[in-house]
Amino acid sequence: MPKVKTMYACSECGYETPRWYGKCPDCGAWNSLNEYIKQPERAVSAKALPLSPSGDISSYITAISQVDERREIRRDTGMPELNRVLGGGAVDGSAVLLSGDPGIGKSTLLLQICMTLCESCRVLYAAGEESPRQIKLRASRIGLDSDNLFIADITDIENVVHAVRHIQPDVVMVDSIQSMNHASVSSSSGSVTQVRECAQVLIHLAKGSGIPVFIVGHVNKDGGIAGPKVLEHMVDVVLTFEGERHSSYRILRAVKNRFGSTNEIGVFEMGEKGLADVDNPSLMLLSGRPSGVSGTCVACVMEGSRPILAEVQALVSKTSFGTPRRVSTGFDFGRSALLVAVLEKRANYFFGNLDAYINIIGGLRLDEPGADLPVALALVSNLLDHPVPEDLAAFGEVGLAGEVRAVSHAQQRINECARLGFTRIIVPSAGAKNLIAPHGTSLLPVSRVAQAIAKIQGKS
Ligand code: TYD
Ligand code: MG
Repeated sequence: MPKVKTMYACSECGYETPRWYGKCPDCGAWNSLNEYIKQPERAVSAKALPLSPSGDISSYITAISQVDERREIRRDTGMPELNRVLGGGAVDGSAVLLSGDPGIGKSTLLLQICMTLCESCRVLYAAGEESPRQIKLRASRIGLDSDNLFIADITDIENVVHAVRHIQPDVVMVDSIQSMNHASVSSSSGSVTQVRECAQVLIHLAKGSGIPVFIVGHVNKDGGIAGPKVLEHMVDVVLTFEGERHSSYRILRAVKNRFGSTNEIGVFEMGEKGLADVDNPSLMLLSGRPSGVSGTCVACVMEGSRPILAEVQALVSKTSFGTPRRVSTGFDFGRSALLVAVLEKRANYFFGNLDAYINIIGGLRLDEPGADLPVALALVSNLLDHPVPEDLAAFGEVGLAGEVRAVSHAQQRINECARLGFTRIIVPSAGAKNLIAPHGTSLLPVSRVAQAIAKIQGKS
């Protein structure tokens, strides 16, 4: 008879151990190990399996040619930016995890999509965190009032399932998974085991009934989805809400999407009446750009299927430390160190005793190779104290030999730059012959980073 074992699981990373530690041996978090009872697992050897299968085998094995490939049914959420990130709307039977810092707007986003969803279907909103009155106040603020939205003031996950059977909704929302509780698990709400078990119930519910389930998950201080990173593997879609605490702009990113691309981002602005779609993110990101100041350059990057213009800022100043500081916000730190090394070795601009700071405006993260060239240009522009011309934008990948390499979707990027009034665009020379410069725009093809620096200085 297998023995029931007491185990300890880390609420930060999910690490399991039979011994208690004050500090998690895996992620290093202090006091995060919680006790739980591990249910015995039955080991079954292949020999012990019956030779003839139980049940009708044809009910669970199908030739791939026979699989029904009708397109999945998608529901319009009424928010074009959210639809874009989801890959065209919420898929029936999918489990969507919405994560983000507290106060970023997760509950607001869910209530807002109810405005459109409730026109044609019934929505069950299981609120473990806020009282129905608080939700009603928020709903009135965004102008939502519907007989099709049902608020369930429950924290027991089994009651959520009962409520779904009783109300028969078309969409279920659970806010949040950390506040839900599974009666058969002894640990407290929000612990790894609780969150995992509750999520499992919701995923079964989604798959079994074909109802899309939106699950809110909090992010812990390190940016992982609280406690259970395990949740990310279980659900179909993981959306993360990002944004600066002091800025009203919010960026929704698909980290995982079984029904669409993960490169798409949605941009929202939090206002008095909740979140509003930002249809023209480039314009928003470039607003308030300083003029005649050195150290800024406009980059054009691809975020999924659309080009976005963003302002890259760099500041280079004499260091007062033994080792110069390198700080990078919104751009990969290792990549910025690499660009500094390339500028030193291949273009003779030295940053040896200088601190270098890089910042991307608007809380955007540029993790695409096309942002290399504008970052290098912003650094050199500040080093030389020579402003990059205001009507100039750039994109291109910088290689270790100091070469500027081609990036994807060059024509789309050029068109976006032209649409926002840029008249000179530095582009990688590879493949530039096939690019068409829109009316009033000139392309400046470069093959080396030093050549691009000469262009911003007005030399040819
Ligand atoms: P909320 O959706 O409660 O965040 P989360 O569920 O992610 O914790 O968002 C709350 C923040 O949004 C709060 O600081 C107030 C602000 N807010 C507005 O600015 N305007 C609005 O119309 C609403 C509903 C919220
Ligand atoms: Mg909330």
